[in-house]
Amino acid sequence: MEENMLEAEGEYSPSPLLLNPHAQTKGGDDPIFHWFSRSMAAKAEGIDVVNGTLGSLLHEDGTLMVNKTVEAHIRQQPERELCGYAPLKGLPPFRELAIDMALGDLRVPLEKLGLSATSIATPGGCGALSVSATNFLDRGDNLLLRNRHWGPYRTIIHEQNCGIETWPLIPESPVNGLKNYDGHGFTSALAGLVERQKRILIWLNDPAHNPTGLSLCRNERSALLNDIWGFAVAHPNTGFTLLIDAAYSFYADEPFGWAESILEKMKTERKWPTNLMLCFAVSCSKSHTVYGLRTGALVCLHPDEKFLNNVNDVLLHSGRGTWSAAPRVAQRAISEIHNDPQLLEKWTVERDSFKQLLAARREALRISSISNGLTLIPTHDGYFAFLECEENHAICEMAAKDHHVYLVPLNGGIRIGVCAIPEEKMARVAAALADGLERTG
Ligand SMILES: Cc1ncc(COP(=O)(O)O)c(C=O)c1O
Repeated sequence: MEENMLEAEGEYSPSPLLLNPHAQTKGGDDPIFHWFSRSMAAKAEGIDVVNGTLGSLLHEDGTLMVNKTVEAHIRQQPERELCGYAPLKGLPPFRELAIDMALGDLRVPLEKLGLSATSIATPGGCGALSVSATNFLDRGDNLLLRNRHWGPYRTIIHEQNCGIETWPLIPESPVNGLKNYDGHGFTSALAGLVERQKRILIWLNDPAHNPTGLSLCRNERSALLNDIWGFAVAHPNTGFTLLIDAAYSFYADEPFGWAESILEKMKTERKWPTNLMLCFAVSCSKSHTVYGLRTGALVCLHPDEKFLNNVNDVLLHSGRGTWSAAPRVAQRAISEIHNDPQLLEKWTVERDSFKQLLAARREALRISSISNGLTLIPTHDGYFAFLECEENHAICEMAAKDHHVYLVPLNGGIRIGVCAIPEEKMARVAAALADGLERTG
């Protein structure tokens, strides 16, 4: 064939012919990876950059921090564990561990009060989120999020042909001292959704929210749980699923705060509403620093065991129909670590040192923010902090150009990757943000 096959005969594009209508609405660069690439390009030119773009824990020299106990245990796995398939629902010890990772020691008292739990291994927390939207929400309906949320939520939800409804992350004026939970916003959003939808799914990234680092406190968790419980009782013909996205919980002061709140609630109620399910998206990416090994789980809680068995089959089907089985090796290695007291102790010591490092970096950012007159969204735990501002893109451009500080402009503000920025560079970050705010203000 001599002719250039790429030369179009006419002026028409292949996209409308080859991509279905939903696919034609997809596209765009991921802003996080876009800003990360820019920071890498500047670094390659020899510039002393501050890279606060990515969501991975980095050493001071910018290399990836890895929990060595996990790495060593993965490396010593036999061929079969490294290369073999996992069962479609996941390895049984990992599925048990996933429930423990969600509920901690409170699993036993919760089960004693009649709650049952099931889990399925998924490729990371993302797999758990995606499979929840596939099955717990109707196509075309809206999923409920707080207005500040992890950007890829939109992509996952769009993939499911669903939309988004939001409620404010922080109330304008706190009611009953609840500074970080906008109960009015939440219940108004629920009231609107029950009018229009048969099923309601809420994703709540807590504790250690991405992108702010905010963690709800005990009263705030209880208030939210009371609100959704009340809605479930008042609307018995609507299905309510609250999914706690616990991606960063192991770096939070209260990793099992939600289990505590559920237990408290169960002690004060006589009957669990049949139309209410609570779920956890468990991720090993951060807790065990196995980001690329795509290991996580969806944990579902409900008192009706028969129903949970049905949920399990449904999730198995969805997993089979999308990713087949989740990768095996980290499921094996991590469940062995958690079932061996010595290995568990080693993992915990390393995890604690990462947690301390994050706390020191956050404190340095907090102090520099105060001295530069910046007000961050309340930031308590985890990998990130967030500055709300209107001119987020312009400020990020200025920070990059004039200070060589690379951050990510996201909906409503700028995300600061506490996980990636050395403590002594936080002053530069705060100064760059203050400068940008002043010049755009
Ligand atoms: C808020 C949030 N949820 C879920 C995830 C899922 O992570 P993974 O799929 O790697 O487990 C992430 C990862 O960055 C996240 O930030």
